Amino acid sequence: MSTLKVWVHTLRHQAQDIISVELRPMPGETLPAFEAGAHIDLHLPGGLVRSYSLANDSSEHHRYLLGVLKDKTSRGGSRAVHEQLRVGMALTIGAPRNHFPLHEEATHSVLIAGGIGITPILSMARRLQALGRSFEVIYLARSRSAAAFTEDLHALNCAMHWHFDDEAGGPADLHALLQARGGQSDTHFYACGPAVMLDAFEKICAELGHDHAHIERFAAVEIKAATDARSVFTVELRRSGKTFDVTPDTTLHQQLIATKANVPFSCEEGICGSCETRVLEGTPDHRDMVLSSAEHASNQVMMVCVSGCKSERLVLDL
Ligand code: FES
Repeated sequence: MSTLKVWVHTLRHQAQDIISVELRPMPGETLPAFEAGAHIDLHLPGGLVRSYSLANDSSEHHRYLLGVLKDKTSRGGSRAVHEQLRVGMALTIGAPRNHFPLHEEATHSVLIAGGIGITPILSMARRLQALGRSFEVIYLARSRSAAAFTEDLHALNCAMHWHFDDEAGGPADLHALLQARGGQSDTHFYACGPAVMLDAFEKICAELGHDHAHIERFAAVEIKAATDARSVFTVELRRSGKTFDVTPDTTLHQQLIATKANVPFSCEEGICGSCETRVLEGTPDHRDMVLSSAEHASNQVMMVCVSGCKSERLVLDL
């Protein structure tokens, strides 16, 4: 996984408990291109690595813009961003990756953000507007003061539907919002936000026959081991020549760390794609939220932070 050095150019209050972080390249350098919907890994003080979606215009090469919510259930990542980052500080980041791509050819796109889920949605809106495509943004937040990047959204001057729970007397009726936007069969629907919203979004889209529904998760949903997953299997790391067993009291993830395998773990929850590893032999038991069902079925790559194995032996390209 390629990394690069950047520096913190701007830290800005965006909303209640949300700051934006603008990263710039080192002098004389430019940043790798990215697609709307992409995210980067931020290597934080204390050795933590966390993924954050890019909110800026994907045609920009001079900056990356992130939005970070100070999460009360933080395992340290968002707290480190809020409390330890300083303007001028140098940071290491991973190159952008995208598991939430736009289908730019769609006749119409509906972009739904819940809270801090606005970050990739904003970049997607900027891209669709640059392309002159038909789209609208639905932004759901607890209150106006908790809604980030509102100035940027107003500046886009696009079709917007705002919903603030405190003013409306409760959460939005997602079913009604989605039902009202189902007219064209090739409309694409995108959602990013809290797990409960994304679960509802997927369920409602399936009920309404909205076939082109796409989500990006910030928090993992636990996927249980398959019934035919093995509790004991042997793992060979082909490139480094190491072999170990995974037993009922360990996991593949724990054993990879114990053997100091060269895997750039980030979320460690199967949602960021950082630990994607090529499978040379064997059948993984996929438990991630990143790969598509076709990619799961092909068994050519796996997310080794959460997944297991269905065969006696698993050979990885590590
Ligand atoms: S570390 Fe994020 S998917 Fe594995």
